[in-house]
Amino acid sequence: MADIQVFEGALDKGLEGVVACTTAVSSIQGNTLSYRGFTIEDLAANSTFEEVVFLLWNNRLPTAAELEKFKSDLTAEYTLPAELIQSLKTVPTKVHPMQWLRTAFSLMSHWDADANDNSEEANKRKAIKMVAKMGTLVCAFEALRNGKEPVAPKKDKSIAWNFMYMLKGGAEPKADLVKIFDTCLILHADHELNCSAFATRVTTSSLSDMYSAITSAIGALKGPLHGGANEQVMIMLKKIGTNEKAQQFVKDALSAKEKVMGIGHRVYKDGDPRAAILRKMSDQLTKQIGEHHWYEMSTLIDDTMYKEKGLMPNVDFYSATVYYSMGIPIDIYTPIFAVSRIAGWIAHANEQYANNRIYRPRGKWTGKTGQVWKPVSQR
Ligand code: COA
Repeated sequence: MADIQVFEGALDKGLEGVVACTTAVSSIQGNTLSYRGFTIEDLAANSTFEEVVFLLWNNRLPTAAELEKFKSDLTAEYTLPAELIQSLKTVPTKVHPMQWLRTAFSLMSHWDADANDNSEEANKRKAIKMVAKMGTLVCAFEALRNGKEPVAPKKDKSIAWNFMYMLKGGAEPKADLVKIFDTCLILHADHELNCSAFATRVTTSSLSDMYSAITSAIGALKGPLHGGANEQVMIMLKKIGTNEKAQQFVKDALSAKEKVMGIGHRVYKDGDPRAAILRKMSDQLTKQIGEHHWYEMSTLIDDTMYKEKGLMPNVDFYSATVYYSMGIPIDIYTPIFAVSRIAGWIAHANEQYANNRIYRPRGKWTGKTGQVWKPVSQR
């Protein structure tokens, strides 16, 4: 029996050294993150989430008239189809919100006549619908799991405003918190070839449809090594409990070879610029709610990780205490990431459609060879 042919390509576990595609959506150079050439600091200080979505999809900032039109296209699509809400009422809610969101988002395609149309025009319509409805979907989950009717979004308000309004059962959100939340959405909107953007592109590369691609991305984002980390950070802080225990917690985690959530990054080795912005927000907001110890505990972990391992916080570390200060349920932190990152996923899907080749890497064979089948009676 001849040995199987072993593929001799270089093995790169995690594809760290692989450049898998060209992209012009967002870039990471050192510790500078840019969307379409604009730094994240510039966009976070001056832009709105809607404007950033336009930028990510069109490769330029909108004029005033274009932005108004874009916003009205989005607001026209905020509402979920009534039939979808009826169906969602039959989907069990005693599950993680990301599990529910993966199902709910996929289910939404059943009421979209464009679902399987991959033409540029249909993809443009789907993109608007998807970004407009993602926040409504997450807030519908929060209502349904509490036995309430989902709150209808308001057409004259932004995605950030509506998210906070619907999540809190229809209470008017405070303007300063909406501004901070909107900035959080900007900070999470895209991040080069991260795990979920790659998942989007892999699914898109088979020329599958955009709902399938985004459903893949939601699944990828859910994991604790990616978007799921923000929720894990808050769980960790609560487990630590007091500032005095923070340093020892980190040392114990490191000696047990456990990951400290929200710390470290595949690409940034000198710090994640989004974490620097979120750190300031966390400082301000935890003070505002009279629970500054969460911020202090975070900085103790941050400093200890740097001293012990040279590792720095990523976007998920300080966003946890920012969302906590806003009274957002801890398991909704990762769905919020999806509400924002869907903008980037769509930009990546479109870039992939425009210059496609199916992703099909090889696996290095480490299994048995030359096996011969035997009847079950002889095994
Ligand atoms: N806590 C403890 N040690 C960590 C760590 C963390 N959060 N992140 C990395 N390390 C250590 C690893 O144990 C490894 O140490 P070693 O060389 O002594 O074995 C080294 O740093 C390299 O880590 P590795 O997991 O190989 O890096 P990666 O590039 O494959 O992974 C992350 C990057 C982000 C997945 C990783 O840093 C991590 O798991 N962080 C926590 C989860 C998280 O916050 N994810 C959100 C990312 S935005």
